Amino acid sequence: MARHSIILDCDPGQDDAIAILLALASPEEIEILGITAVAGNVPLGLTRVNVRKMLEVAGRTDVKVWAGCDRPLVRKLETAEYVHGETGLNGAVLPEPTMPLQDGHAVDAIIDLVMSRPARTVTICALGPLTNLAMAIRKEPHLTQRVKEIVLMGGAIELGNVTPAAEFNIYVDPHAADIVFRSGIPIIMFGLDVTHQVLVTRVRLERIGGIGTKVAEAARGLLDFFNRFDMERYDAPGAPLHDPCVIAYLIDPEIFQGKACPVEIELEGRSVGRTLVDWWNSDRHVPNATVMREVDAERFFMLLTERLARL
Ligand code: RIB
Ligand code: CA
Repeated sequence: MARHSIILDCDPGQDDAIAILLALASPEEIEILGITAVAGNVPLGLTRVNVRKMLEVAGRTDVKVWAGCDRPLVRKLETAEYVHGETGLNGAVLPEPTMPLQDGHAVDAIIDLVMSRPARTVTICALGPLTNLAMAIRKEPHLTQRVKEIVLMGGAIELGNVTPAAEFNIYVDPHAADIVFRSGIPIIMFGLDVTHQVLVTRVRLERIGGIGTKVAEAARGLLDFFNRFDMERYDAPGAPLHDPCVIAYLIDPEIFQGKACPVEIELEGRSVGRTLVDWWNSDRHVPNATVMREVDAERFFMLLTERLARL
């Protein structure tokens, strides 16, 4: 039996797509109860298609997909085609999906999947803006007593990537993030401080390309496109592979190190969307998240490459 039963909430995006493949390639560790799409990198109309494109390229049309919220709780939707391209999955030619979406809304699916299983047995992996999850918590407050943990990509201890202070997932929907970080559900946070240590260098990209399968070729194409924006912006040897950190943690948590910290979300002003991480707990508040800060990057990419070769 898999160690983790997960709901994967995401906004593909090339890095979300690689995270989906990593989860599919790891059945010993991960049972995917369902995937929910949210507006983020590109509008919902595309994220709900992109999830299914990745499932079909991996031959996993058995996995259920629901469409969720098409905009943040309060703010206007801001997307990131400048990073991901107009489809959200630029870099690979992937056929339009034929598998259907599930009936119903992702928010209700999250509630049903969690509430129909024993308490503290379902993990929510959040790879995009937290709108779906926040709506589910508001609609069914008992989720806070039933979800095992939330493992999310979002935020930063230090610099943001959309503004000097804010990371994209939190910036797009800070009000949703505030609900999630105040929920009391155990949170493992992968912010930019750790994801910017796992860069898709040319050598790592070619190792993936060298696998030689259809899926690996699609992954290489997606990552080659994904590299271009961040390599130029940060003058770096590769783009940070944000979202797969969440899945790699479930497979091999020892790849990462962090500590329990109080985290607050800035909801207004020039730093709106900032995760205020009290790393030294100077305010003596009760920690509400384990914030990751270190990673063995080579071990991460060895795991990713080995698992992608299974698909
Ligand atoms: O800031 C990076 C995060 O925003 C990643 O999850 C990326 O896919 C986008 O959603
Ligand atoms: Ca994402």
